[in-house]
Amino acid sequence: MNDVIIRVASESDLDAIMVIEHASFGSTAWPRESMAFELEPNPARHYFVAHDAGTMVGYGGISLVAGHHGDIMTIAIAAEHRGRGLGRRLMNSMLEVAKSQKAAEVFLEVRADNEVAQSLYRSLGFEQIDLRRGYYQPENIDAVIMKLDFTNTDSSGTPGPRVAAAPATGGKSDPLVLGIESSCDETGIGIVRGTTLLANVIASSMDQHARFGGVVPEIAARAHLEALQPAIREALKTAQVSLLDLDAIAVTNGPGLAGALMVGVGAAKALAVATGKPLYAVNHLVGHVGVDVLERGEVQTPTIALLVSGGHTSLLLVRDLLDDVELLGETIDDAAGEAFDKVARLLGLGYPGGPQIDKAAADGNPAAIRFPRGLTLPKDMDKHRYDFSFSGLKTAVARWVEVAESKGEDFSVADVAASFREAVVEVLVGKAVAACQAHNVPRLLLGGGVVANRRLRDVAAARCAESDIELRIPALDLCTDNGAMIAALGAQLVMAGREASSLNFAADSTLPVTQVQSI
Ligand code: KG4
Ligand code: ZN
Repeated sequence: MNDVIIRVASESDLDAIMVIEHASFGSTAWPRESMAFELEPNPARHYFVAHDAGTMVGYGGISLVAGHHGDIMTIAIAAEHRGRGLGRRLMNSMLEVAKSQKAAEVFLEVRADNEVAQSLYRSLGFEQIDLRRGYYQPENIDAVIMKLDFTNTDSSGTPGPRVAAAPATGGKSDPLVLGIESSCDETGIGIVRGTTLLANVIASSMDQHARFGGVVPEIAARAHLEALQPAIREALKTAQVSLLDLDAIAVTNGPGLAGALMVGVGAAKALAVATGKPLYAVNHLVGHVGVDVLERGEVQTPTIALLVSGGHTSLLLVRDLLDDVELLGETIDDAAGEAFDKVARLLGLGYPGGPQIDKAAADGNPAAIRFPRGLTLPKDMDKHRYDFSFSGLKTAVARWVEVAESKGEDFSVADVAASFREAVVEVLVGKAVAACQAHNVPRLLLGGGVVANRRLRDVAAARCAESDIELRIPALDLCTDNGAMIAALGAQLVMAGREASSLNFAADSTLPVTQVQSI
């Protein structure tokens, strides 16, 4: 599985970079101060890092003379992560910057004895132009000087090498897109270049909802208003781009809380008018699926997607990300995350409930109490085979606790939490795996905040392994609501050559999942 994210480096990456630098270059490693200097904000320097589940596994940097040429300064991958295509992905990110700044050529030097690296660079379009004898001392190894000429355009007129995420015909390759997400309580601003994540800023109003035990729409909408501008500024700063560099803006226009959606949509329209940039209105749920392009370069289809959060519980059949998304089922009452929040509340645990239940359930026995599994009886299979219901489960837990308390019994909160969690997880995974089997789809993608649940991840992994289903779980900050997924989906639309949305689309709290883009 390839869960590695490529993102722009920052000064706080210095320690982790130096570990790989020393391991890779030994006595010729750059001193810490030199690397620190390289990482300082500087429009002529672009460093990227590769992250695997929070661990730094590689980095690379390019120095650019805008409109002229670029130099690959360094690139290194931690030894145990070589052979995973990370060098290529880092190179692609650096070359994308060079292209966007209209560099005519890019240079690099590589050890003559490093055949693997040379063949990677050749496959990206580099050619040897020189050899410097004994350049690497003290080992006395020659340096091969290579050049990539962007002015050698291919037949499609696209300058430069073919990068991993080949653009769809007719679309712009590697567009720089800013995405705005405001459908629930997270204000998310993401910036991507093609399939490369440059910034993912999230401001959550969760704390303001805590005392109500759930998201309060008016509070969420007001919080979006306050958070949007600073979040946009921060994202632009992180990505080291300006609004004028953008190729497009993308925004969630549904489904979600109407008032919350309207804040994002209004801001996106204003931004599009002010900058003259094309605007893409995209579907939040499809965004959760599209986010996989940031880790894999594409969404492999067909795939079943199980999206579970505080706002939604949906099972999708995705035959094509942009053109064919089918809703197989969804919750007919509470969302899965909402059930966690409500049950946590009645057990006297805090908000949000998911992590609290997870904690309380750690020492509990999941088989202690047999709570109902909603919509799993034979009679439900006709109309509700892939639908979910959690309100009966919540009531059953409330009843059970009431009875125990009225009898004055000293019951175990851990057992109740574990048994409740088991009931939710079994239904979610059971229906998702059944959908994969019934539709002959060997892939399952998870998304939404409930994916943080340890038990859900473990049961999903075990059941998928048994059934030969490939399980995809994006990094957690890409699973919870975020702007990067909206930017990523917007970029896919741009690359596919889709027309921008008009400014007439509206926020639609019940937008169907079949409508990937609103015109
Ligand atoms: O996707 P998300 O951040 O956004 C909203 O839907 O607002 O999901 C938040 C939801 C909450 O209901 C929270 O209780 C749930 O995800 N959640 C969890 C866990 N962590 C968060 N549910 C179960 N187990 C967890 N560990
Ligand atoms: Zn969501």
